[in-house]
Amino acid sequence: MLGNFTYVNATKLYFGENSLTFLKGELEKYGKNIQLVYGGGSIKKNGIYDKVLEILHEGGKNVFEDPGVMPNPTVEKLYEGCKIAKDNQVDLILAVGGGSVCDYAKAVSVGAWCEEDPWDKYYLRMEDVDNQIIPVGCILTMVGTGSEMNGGSVITNHESKLKIGHVFGENVFPKFSILNPTYTYTLPQYQMVAGFFDIMSHILEQYFSGEDDNTSDYIMEGLLKSLIHSSRIAVKNPKDYEARSNIMWIATWALNTLVAKGKRTDWMVHMIGQSIGAYTDATHGMTLSAVSMAYYRHICPYGMAKFARYGINVWNVNPEGKTEEEIAAEGLRCMESYMKEIGLVMNIKDLGVTEEMLDSIAKGTFIMKGGYKVLTKDEVVEILKESM
Ligand code: NZQ
Ligand code: ZN
Repeated sequence: MLGNFTYVNATKLYFGENSLTFLKGELEKYGKNIQLVYGGGSIKKNGIYDKVLEILHEGGKNVFEDPGVMPNPTVEKLYEGCKIAKDNQVDLILAVGGGSVCDYAKAVSVGAWCEEDPWDKYYLRMEDVDNQIIPVGCILTMVGTGSEMNGGSVITNHESKLKIGHVFGENVFPKFSILNPTYTYTLPQYQMVAGFFDIMSHILEQYFSGEDDNTSDYIMEGLLKSLIHSSRIAVKNPKDYEARSNIMWIATWALNTLVAKGKRTDWMVHMIGQSIGAYTDATHGMTLSAVSMAYYRHICPYGMAKFARYGINVWNVNPEGKTEEEIAAEGLRCMESYMKEIGLVMNIKDLGVTEEMLDSIAKGTFIMKGGYKVLTKDEVVEILKESM
């Protein structure tokens, strides 16, 4: 049952090859001081940086650069960004990059004017924002997280070995996001496919929850089919505009709150993946792919009917003469071979996880209750062992 809800999404999207031309109009809505946030330099190599800077200068903006946002942004970097924002009284944070850059921009947007340590308040204690929020705009260069149209912001604390995501409300969503599929062409293949699986995982973790039959499930099956189809094309030809643009759009819809409507949502693959990330700093999407098969085989008996539906509707399993168990198992086998085909990491050893880490990774895994089975810590260890 869909139940009662209010739906609004605060992010305005500009999509397509010419979408950067809309940056000028957006900038006019904000004051002069812009914090330009980006990562380790890919935007300088592929020329996006020059184009953005030119528009900022034409608009007469004061640009305060905040480079060096690392994949899986750290709490130390967050403090640095908050200082830049506060010292320069910035009016807009412009994030140019992937999910890490967008997530970090949101963390700075709520953290800059926070009177206490934003890590404690917004990540450890998960409190609502009650201080000034600096608006954020995104120019996306890597597809996967959905950060361009949601309130998610994941920060890593290496000292306490915690990687925590706060899903902020509408007031923290980017005010606008510019989505040009061609900007993703320069992504290394490893990052590109990691992003593909991040999208798949976001969809699956909402799909595999609740027994109710609602519109969200049908939308998700469509998104999954489109993703599987387009990703197969993109892996062979990364410059296929149609495939890359489809995938960019799917990523946005996978995690912009729409398909969560009426769903309890699971998120245990993400919780385990994030804990692996806190120990290894591995690429986000690969931390998900490496544990997914073990996880889904583990919970399949608790949501058998849905797994069978998944096999039939997403993987075209022919149900004739087969039991629900057989259909579900065949669907999962199809998923596994697709994952290998596109080049995902299929075990956690390849991400640097050792046997000695397993108990600690399980300990650092937050247990969510929305899936088909509420896991115990022992079950998390079991899934991790299966994933070695
Ligand atoms: O730093 P640069 O030099 O830009 O290089 C990046 C980075 O090394 C590179 N890259 C990005 N765009 C590129 C490019 N290289 C060449 N050409 C381009 N066009 O790709 C590498 C990875 O970038 P990153 O932003 O880290 O990847 P992703 O978008 O997967 O973001 C991962 C972060 O997002 C969080 C993850 O936990 C992780 O910290 N998540 C955020 C979510 C949200 N906001 O809702 C949900 C997700 O589940 C996820 O947890
Ligand atoms: Zn994710």
